[in-house]
Amino acid sequence: MRLLVTGGAGFIGSNFVHQVMRATEHQVVVIDKLTYAGNADSLAGLPADRLRLVRADVCDGGAVDGLVAECDAIVHFAAESHNDNSIDDPAPFVQTNLVGTFRLLEAARRHGKRFHHVSTDEVYGDLELDDPSKFTPETPYNPSSPYSASKAGSDMLVRAWVRTYGVRATISNCSNNYGPRQHVEKFIPRQITNLLDGRRPKLYGTGANTRDWIHVDDHNSAVLAILDRGRIGQTYLIGSDGELSNKRVVELILTEMGRPADEYDLVKDRPGHDLRYAIDASKLRDELDWRPAYRDFRAGLRATIDWYRNNESWWRPAKREVEARYQAKQQ
Ligand code: NAD
Ligand code: DAU
Repeated sequence: MRLLVTGGAGFIGSNFVHQVMRATEHQVVVIDKLTYAGNADSLAGLPADRLRLVRADVCDGGAVDGLVAECDAIVHFAAESHNDNSIDDPAPFVQTNLVGTFRLLEAARRHGKRFHHVSTDEVYGDLELDDPSKFTPETPYNPSSPYSASKAGSDMLVRAWVRTYGVRATISNCSNNYGPRQHVEKFIPRQITNLLDGRRPKLYGTGANTRDWIHVDDHNSAVLAILDRGRIGQTYLIGSDGELSNKRVVELILTEMGRPADEYDLVKDRPGHDLRYAIDASKLRDELDWRPAYRDFRAGLRATIDWYRNNESWWRPAKREVEARYQAKQQ
């Protein structure tokens, strides 16, 4: 099979390509604009006879059409992905996440190709901190940020293209990922690299907000399972019961890195900050027999810390500018 992977030089997309190379015999073509979040080095060392990287914008209908024509299936990761950036400037989020998905769907329709859309649990809004319920595929959409609204809109485009045009598409909505090759603007890599730089971790608000952490390789094994045996037109929620408060995550990072657990700063909160995400992944487990491999968050975190320790040349170029931007916002 020849896969077209959009956003394959980003965090989850590049880990997906690594997993495809390890676990399958598929050929991969990556289309990536290489924005600030894309890094060709994330694909370094992979077999050149099975992988091609094309630098192009998913909003470029001509480029997309040619690449879709050549592939058997599209796995769509490309997006503007960071909530804080979407609050500062929503324009690229509307463009890439909505128009880009539209261009890909049109190409999939023209060429009759299988399409998997990678989306987020944030389309469901948030849960109260003391609410024991979790998101299910039936939870109504209620996005909070420009990022999550643009992802919700892209999911709706996919659903409409399935129903109206019969495009063979599936959607997955996953919770917060952690692991290697994640941009230093995101929560966990920001705190690890702050500590490596002698800075204190920064917690928004009180640190009580909770996220449902999943290792990126577990997210990607679920995407492969859906691509392989997911039912067309269906939505699958991906999560591995990894709920933790932000404060707890920072305490674990500090402890793992040999610092006192309370050596962090509380900083200005994110506007509209979602309180809690939690995923009920029973449909994925029951229908597709998928199970996460990383059940010990602390062990996964330790390996992630080691990755950042050992790969400074990967993250260093972005660090100074990211911290300057956060500092200007008192974050
Ligand atoms: P990322 O920001 O690390 O990577 C995004 C990639 O897309 C980058 O390589 C970037 O260059 C590329 N890109 C951006 N705009 C593009 C365009 N117009 N044309 C072509 N390429 C473009 O993001 P990520 O964290 O790897 O997220 C990947 C996908 O997974 C996104 O769709 C995101 O919504 C979804 N998701 C992320 C998480 C998470 O925790 N990070 C959780 C659930 C779902
Ligand atoms: O739930 C899935 C989503 O998870 C994905 O769709 C997004 O692409 C991904 O970025 C992530 O969104 P979050 O906004 O939850 O992730 P972020 O890493 O930005 O922040 C995680 C939590 O940590 C959130 O509650 C905000 C908080 N935070 C973040 C940063 C950068 C801090 O407390 N301090 C920080 O420095």
